[in-house]
Amino acid sequence: MIVLGIETSCDETASAVVRDEREVLSSCIHSQVQRHAPFGGVVPEIAGRMHVEKITETVDAALTEAGVGPDRIDLIAVVNRPGLIGALFIGVTAAKALAFSWRTPLIGIDHIQAHLAGAALENPPIAFPAVGFVISGGHTILVKMESLLHAVPLGGTMDDAAGEAFDKVAQLLSLPYPGGPSISKEAEKGDPAAIRFPRPLLAPQSLDFSFSGLKTAVRYHVQGQQGNAPAGAGNVADVAASFQAAMVDTLVEKCRRALRVTGCSSLVVGGGVAVNRLLRSALTALSEKEQVQLTIARPDFCTDNAAMAASLGAQLFQRQKQRSPAEETLLTLEAHSSSSLFTGGRF
Ligand code: KG4
Ligand code: ZN
Repeated sequence: MIVLGIETSCDETASAVVRDEREVLSSCIHSQVQRHAPFGGVVPEIAGRMHVEKITETVDAALTEAGVGPDRIDLIAVVNRPGLIGALFIGVTAAKALAFSWRTPLIGIDHIQAHLAGAALENPPIAFPAVGFVISGGHTILVKMESLLHAVPLGGTMDDAAGEAFDKVAQLLSLPYPGGPSISKEAEKGDPAAIRFPRPLLAPQSLDFSFSGLKTAVRYHVQGQQGNAPAGAGNVADVAASFQAAMVDTLVEKCRRALRVTGCSSLVVGGGVAVNRLLRSALTALSEKEQVQLTIARPDFCTDNAAMAASLGAQLFQRQKQRSPAEETLLTLEAHSSSSLFTGGRF
């Protein structure tokens, strides 16, 4: 089965062609980072307008690079939730128009669930049941997965997402947007033990996250409050390295707890923050220590892309073809009652 994926939930206009769920024939991404950088974050109106400008050429590029024409596309999978409404609207409208003119089936995709499917791309098959962990600019979510299509939430962030915390701390340190890559680059020159920032673990068994205290601790340090010297040019690298270390320790400890609580021996990780090299090596060390199988998305499939949507689309489409009319009604009701993992309890 060959699927065309489309993703426009935030500031990447992305299109991809995926064969048989895991083989990526093309993955084309037009990033808007340069347009949003002067504002230190994504400006929704600019994002929507840029998607309009780039969506057609991105789809064309994905088809050309994959060497397939519209007649070879069996399904179009488009991210339709959650995300910036004006940005999602462009991808969904384009996908509907293509599906109508090519007479191709169309399926809507949950962006968070797609990040987990992204972990399976060009990787060995995932072992289930598994703990799933999406760490991105918009979400920090732990789930227990029976499969890529069935998951139960375990915990999530009570305030900022992990990537958002990276972005905001980068702003405090006057490092360029997006903050994750610039903090990790700066951290390479610094000492992760220079400042002992808090590891916000919450209650002993908690699988939730809260990064606002950590962010505030960095702000106090930078502003020279609480008796610290203000961060000058010399110690920006130390602050970056110390913040990154606190963040990674926290994320890894929550993974360890989730594995213990669920008894799963498989861990699946996706989302933009999973590009972080320190985090990747800490998760590898955790999986070796706990003897669990780690499936972590390849860096190019961690940040927003359409291949993850195409892969998930193929799986959802196969399931839809198999289920009974009664199941269909139930799942349709569930889909209408929820646009998010947390309120729905399953994808
Ligand atoms: O998954 P993604 O592309 O978009 C959302 O769904 O939000 O994630 C983007 C986030 C940004 O906050 C960015 O700063 C973060 O991923 N990120 C990183 C790194 N690369 C990207 N965070 C930490 N270290 C990185 N190397
Ligand atoms: Zn994302």
